[in-house]
Amino acid sequence: MCGIIGYIGPRNATSVILNGLRRLEYRGYDSAGIAILGAHGIHVTRAVGKLSNLELRMKNEENDSQFSILNSSFSVGIGHTRWATHGGVTEHNAHPHLNDAGTVAVIQNGIIENFVELKHELQAEGVRFRSETDTEVIPHLVDLYMKAGMPFVRAAFAAIARLQGSNAVVMMSAQEPDKLIATRLGNAGGIVIGINPDEAFVASDIPGILDYTRNVIFLEDGEVAIAQAGQVGVYRLDGAPVSKQRHVIAWDPVSAEKGEYRHFMQKEIFEQARAVTDTLRGRVNFETGEVTLESLALTDTGTGRHGDKGITQSPGRPVTLSRIATVACGTSKHAGLIGKFLIERIARIPVEVDYGSEYRYRDPIVEPGMAVLGITQSGETADTLAAMSAGKERGARLWAIVNAIGSQAERMAEGVIHMRAGPEIGVCSTKTFLTSIVDQYLLACALAQHANVQTFERSNVDSFSLARDLAHLPGLISQTLKPDPIYEALANRFHDRRHFLFLGRGINYPIALEGALKLKEISYIHAEGYPAGEMKHGPIALIDERMPVVCIAVQDGVYEKMISQIEQVKARGGIVIAIATEGDDAIGRKADYVINVPAAPELLTPALTAIPMQRLAYEMAVRLGCDVDQPRNLAKSVTVE
Ligand code: G6P
Repeated sequence: MCGIIGYIGPRNATSVILNGLRRLEYRGYDSAGIAILGAHGIHVTRAVGKLSNLELRMKNEENDSQFSILNSSFSVGIGHTRWATHGGVTEHNAHPHLNDAGTVAVIQNGIIENFVELKHELQAEGVRFRSETDTEVIPHLVDLYMKAGMPFVRAAFAAIARLQGSNAVVMMSAQEPDKLIATRLGNAGGIVIGINPDEAFVASDIPGILDYTRNVIFLEDGEVAIAQAGQVGVYRLDGAPVSKQRHVIAWDPVSAEKGEYRHFMQKEIFEQARAVTDTLRGRVNFETGEVTLESLALTDTGTGRHGDKGITQSPGRPVTLSRIATVACGTSKHAGLIGKFLIERIARIPVEVDYGSEYRYRDPIVEPGMAVLGITQSGETADTLAAMSAGKERGARLWAIVNAIGSQAERMAEGVIHMRAGPEIGVCSTKTFLTSIVDQYLLACALAQHANVQTFERSNVDSFSLARDLAHLPGLISQTLKPDPIYEALANRFHDRRHFLFLGRGINYPIALEGALKLKEISYIHAEGYPAGEMKHGPIALIDERMPVVCIAVQDGVYEKMISQIEQVKARGGIVIAIATEGDDAIGRKADYVINVPAAPELLTPALTAIPMQRLAYEMAVRLGCDVDQPRNLAKSVTVE
């Protein structure tokens, strides 16, 4: 969960940046670096491991006469804590990254989807790369444009315009040292800019700058800020100025944490591109498509770099995996149902999914060679833990997908994959749902790719290409999170209804279940999720002109089937709210309302269609004046049976 800090003003930039990075330390990182404008240009210091390693290195450099601050009245710099996405944890992969001449320094959070193309283009121009990161394309691109005659700021805009995906980027240049350029593209990383009368701060997260200022602006998708000491201009990528509202962050820690959002649930919905980026970090080689879950290393001991524990057993011995029994509750159970689809499709391993509260009471059949997989964001749900124990006692290999580090589920399991969603405060699960889907997608690819894992049937899908698709996911999630007036309109129109029906098929059937669960949890409207093909066996009797029916009808393998379900709902006078693929005009003629999600590979669609479910439930609950973050009778962690 990379952290970004930038400073420009009269204070000592080094100490402001180090202090800010320290405030973001809790998010986790594997290396850190800082770029400061000194008397001899931009000076970069980087170190693997803890911030103290970086500080120690900087202390040693202070004694070096080559390095001195530009002048005492003005100081500028940027700093970064990295959690690897592209390339290993090494000093040369740590940020900031520079152009050849060392005149442009860049830090970045996110995944540059088109970095392979950009890298080849730059290599054809003779650029030599010093790191394996995607970030390094940015300073070289800026340099290319500067060599073509553009001043730094214009070159920075031109380079930013070339980046695809969901990213936050901050840069500085020796050519125009009085400016920091910061941009937010999508939602993989927020950018907050703090402003005091004679200084400016840039950060990925509010806590990084709260020691210095409470006056902030938040960048939106596609905005670029030019921060100077005491003033900030914000522009669209085409150069058009944007007038921004200034926010004053209240002193209490809860408001500080919520930042620009009204509720934690809202914040957590909008954090999902970033959460998924973190889930992917260091686990996929986006050039080859190879998935490395350290938790899948063929060892029975040892703790991975991110704390994932080994999943399989003796080194070198093939591991037969006869089947997987997933146990989970609530939203996590719905994630498990999507995982069943993913693991069976990608790895050809049979998966059964049970409620934690049911599994142990049905005397489950457990044979050696199978795995029980507990999915639980809290890691403390009593029913899930009991089901996991039941599996373990009967001799199954025990795995867990968890968000809370150090939780019971993690301690019990032999193999753990972390969600890496960060803290989720809203009782209603949102980002932990998406990240547990992504964890299972990774698990499916890793099992398919691992030569040592013998599966039920040989997989006929290209798991390497499927894994490469994941590079697009944070960007697609960002697109699904774009402002859309439809949610408020639907809440205004339907908040008085007492019943909703949600229909989906195939891999999006569990999203119908999740949509219904979200709505009832926070808005107290009764909702049912159903596999669309089952509608004719019961729910169809409920349909009349008062019944809103949410139909997940994206262009996947069962699209045509969904269209015929929509027609059946319409024929009975029901109101259809369709979740459809952008550009699908035909569906607009059949449905009463359409919520668009971007086109995506089929197996990634649930991570997108889940978002309209969350946004719809959220708007409905807000419209009804419900306590969104703490719905009645519910708890974030249910530790009783
Ligand atoms: C509670 C929460 C749900 C969650 C369920 C399972 O009911 O309100 O949001 O899905 O527990 O929680 P877990 O921590 O095991 O994922």
